[in-house]
Amino acid sequence: FTVSPEKQIFHCFGCNEGGNAFAFLMKMENIGFAEAVAELGNKLGIAVPRPASSGPAKDLKDKLYKITELAAEYFQKNLADESGETARAYLDQRGINAKTVAQFRLGYAPQGWDNLFNYLVSRGADPTLIEKTGLSLKREGKGGYYDRFRNRLIFPVSNQRGRVEAFGGRALGNEEPKYLNSPDTGIYHKGETLFGLDLSKEAIKQTQTAILVEGNFDLITPFQAGITNIVASMGTALTAYQCKLIARYCDTIVLTFDADSAGGIAADRSIDLLRNQGLRVKVTQLTGGKDPDEVIQKKGAEALRKCLSDAQPYLEFQINRVFARHDLKEIESRSKALKEVAIILAKEKDDFVRKEYAKVAAASLRTEVETVIAEIKRNRSYPSSHTANLQRTTEKPASKIVEAEKHLIACAAQSTQALNFIKERLNAQDFHQPETSAIAALLFSTDFAGQDNPAHFLLDNLPDESSKKYLSRILVSGNSLEQNKMEEILNDCLSVLKNERLRLKIEEMKLEITEAEKAGNPDRAAELLSALKTEIS
Ligand code: UTP
Ligand code: MN
Repeated sequence: FTVSPEKQIFHCFGCNEGGNAFAFLMKMENIGFAEAVAELGNKLGIAVPRPASSGPAKDLKDKLYKITELAAEYFQKNLADESGETARAYLDQRGINAKTVAQFRLGYAPQGWDNLFNYLVSRGADPTLIEKTGLSLKREGKGGYYDRFRNRLIFPVSNQRGRVEAFGGRALGNEEPKYLNSPDTGIYHKGETLFGLDLSKEAIKQTQTAILVEGNFDLITPFQAGITNIVASMGTALTAYQCKLIARYCDTIVLTFDADSAGGIAADRSIDLLRNQGLRVKVTQLTGGKDPDEVIQKKGAEALRKCLSDAQPYLEFQINRVFARHDLKEIESRSKALKEVAIILAKEKDDFVRKEYAKVAAASLRTEVETVIAEIKRNRSYPSSHTANLQRTTEKPASKIVEAEKHLIACAAQSTQALNFIKERLNAQDFHQPETSAIAALLFSTDFAGQDNPAHFLLDNLPDESSKKYLSRILVSGNSLEQNKMEEILNDCLSVLKNERLRLKIEEMKLEITEAEKAGNPDRAAELLSALKTEIS
């Protein structure tokens, strides 16, 4: 990981991320550009005017957040005072201590129809906005509002930055529904939030692993026991958005769903979604309780830790599920199981992993590994790594050209003088790689008059991530340019690219000559040949 204070950029050679201070903060904290600017401005005492684009929508959101924050405080206060006694006893009975209550800002929604509503209005909230947070609902007919959450234990749901956007409320007895949740609102989208992420993201980043559970208590009970790299889906099916959110923080996810068939199905369904985000997926088999909370209550935190560390790689989990569904004593069933296993393994891109699992499957299916491998091949839809490599090497420009383009871009990106020198001699089309031609296109089409270093403009304005990464990499790895050497380097590199341009032109003309000859047009062929001769000389 390299920072160049002089060039004001960073590049990580490990993960190939790079850019300026804003890009760094955006990636570290998973925030947007505007937020990064505001945060750095704040740190340095520079006033950052609010961007005009986030006007009315942002104002509305801020108002809704103000209300959810007031409500969270109200629920917390209620849990602490006499009305919250039953709720406190309930938490006590479930083994939740005061520290955890404070950390998760647990609360209590008192009995009665409109306590919260009246409180919020007394604090200046607009009734229509209260309704928009989902906390109170409009009464049919009579007018007025009533609270959604009444006589329930309250779990505030925060976004990953810790702002309360919704609530979950658990019944204290056997009332239905057991859990009641906020609806989707202007600030809450069920499918885009993960419960607990605001408190667990640091641990998730540090361990590069996220434990995914279903229930609210399945998150807070383990968290209290020190298992803090944990998030909850709150009983809903995982979305691609949530998978992406997790993938920003870590590379491995441990699915820890309920030990029933619904939990198995939920795990199965989540695997492809998570794999598509490049996550390594493992699946826990819970023993000693039906969910993580119960395992801790009945057997202690160590028992849960053991289940977590014994989590199976997802392929093992999926293959075992197939075998469990079929009676492997019967030949026909084994044939069906073989087909299902092959579909699963066909998606695995790693040759070694695929083959090892094929061996394991072959043993259970009482057949030869070749039979399993043949069945996998019939299901494969992606090119083998061998042909993919072949394609890549034939497309790649020669290393001399790659080097020349790198130096030219590095010089042009750091010196407007060098840029002008190159611009007079080359076109953007003379660059052969997608990254260098994108950078050249932007460099050549922008007026840098009065600016002597285009680098930061490029990092902010390049249209795609891969050319930005390319640029930050060459900028941090290059030494600072010495004026007297620069011209020599430039001339060398220019001649490499000019030769390449000439070579391509000659190829093209040769082709045209052959075509003219084939078409029975000797005059045209002769004409082209003499043009070719002048080109070469
Ligand atoms: P479960 O039914 O597995 O309950 O729902 P649980 O988490 O074990 O609940 P406890 O331990 O009895 O308190 C899993 C999750 O699904 C959501 C909740 O987030 C719950 O934690 N859920 C469940 C609802 O949103 N509504 C419901 O009616 C039930
Ligand atoms: Mn439970």
